[in-house]
Amino acid sequence: MNDALGSPQSVLLLGGSSEIGLAITRRLVERRAKTVVLAGRDPEALKPAADDLRSAGADTVDVVAFDALATDGHDAFVDDIFNRHGDFDLVLLAFGVLGDQEEAERDTDAALAVLRTNFVGAASVALPVARRLRAQGHGTLLVLSSVAGERARRANFVYGSSKAGLDAFCQGLGDSLVGSGARVVVVRPGFVHTKMTAGRAPAPLSTTPDAVADAVVRGLEKGAETIWAPPALRFVMSGMRHLPRPLWRRIKE
Ligand SMILES: NC(=O)c1ccc[n+]([C@@H]2O[C@H](COP(=O)([O-])OP(=O)(O)OC[C@H]3O[C@@H](n4cnc5c(N)ncnc54)[C@H](OP(=O)(O)O)[C@@H]3O)[C@@H](O)[C@H]2O)c1
Repeated sequence: MNDALGSPQSVLLLGGSSEIGLAITRRLVERRAKTVVLAGRDPEALKPAADDLRSAGADTVDVVAFDALATDGHDAFVDDIFNRHGDFDLVLLAFGVLGDQEEAERDTDAALAVLRTNFVGAASVALPVARRLRAQGHGTLLVLSSVAGERARRANFVYGSSKAGLDAFCQGLGDSLVGSGARVVVVRPGFVHTKMTAGRAPAPLSTTPDAVADAVVRGLEKGAETIWAPPALRFVMSGMRHLPRPLWRRIKE
C-alpha cells in the first residue's frame, strides 16, 4: 500500500533500462519506495541500475526478464511477478521504441515492430496488470505515452500513431477501473534527452528525465489522470491540435 503520506512503497518498472523510467523510479525510492522490480530484455544489463536504486535507499531490488513483443507470455509474467512479490503500489510502463520513420515507410516489418512494441505489447501487458491492481483494490498503472500521440505528424506518424493508440487504450482502461481503488495515469512527455532521442535536434520545450520525474511525482501527489512534461505542453498542444492540416503536415521532425 502507499505509505501514510501517499507515496508508493513498491514499484514494478516495465522497461527497466528506460532513462525516464529509471529517473521516476529513483525519485520514488528517494520518497520511501522500498521494493523495486526492474523488468527488461537483458536482466544482466539492469544490475548497475539496481545497485543505484539500492544506494538511493531501496531495500529490495530484483531484475527479471521481460520482452514487450513476447505477448503470449504476458499474462503468466504478470501473475508470476505479483504472486512472488505481493501487491505493487505502482507499475510503470516505460518501454518503447522510436523507430525510423523513413525505414518504416519503406519496410512494413520495421513499422510493425514499432506498433507491436508501443501499442500491442503495451496493451497486452497493461490488461493483466490492471486485473491484478483491480483485484488488490489499490495501485497505479503509470504509462509513458507521448505528445507525439496527441496528433500524428507526417514526419513521425508511425511512432505517433502507436502512442495515440496506447494513450486512448490506457484512458479507457483507467475509466474501467474507476471505483476499484486502482487507477491509470497517462504521462505525455515532449522531447526528452535520453538515448532514444540521442543525435536528434531537440524540439522546443525539450526536457530531461529528472524534470519528467519531478512532474510525475507532482502529478501523482495531486491525483492527476494525465501528466504533461513539461506542463506547458498541455496548452501548446491544445492549440497545435487545431492547426489546419496543410500547416500541420509541414512541421519537420
Ligand atoms: N525520450 C523522449 O523524448 C520521449 C518522449 C515522449 C515519450 N517517451 C516514451 O518514454 C518511454 C521511455 O523512453 P526513454 O526516453 O526512457 O527511452 P530509452 O531510455 O531508450 O528506454 C526505452 C526502453 O524501452 C525498452 N524496450 C524497447 N523494446 C522493448 C521490448 N521489446 N521489450 C522490453 N523492453 C523494450 C528498452 O529496453 P532495452 O534496453 O532492452 O533496449 C528501454 O528500456 C518510451 O515509451 C518512449 O516512447 C520518450
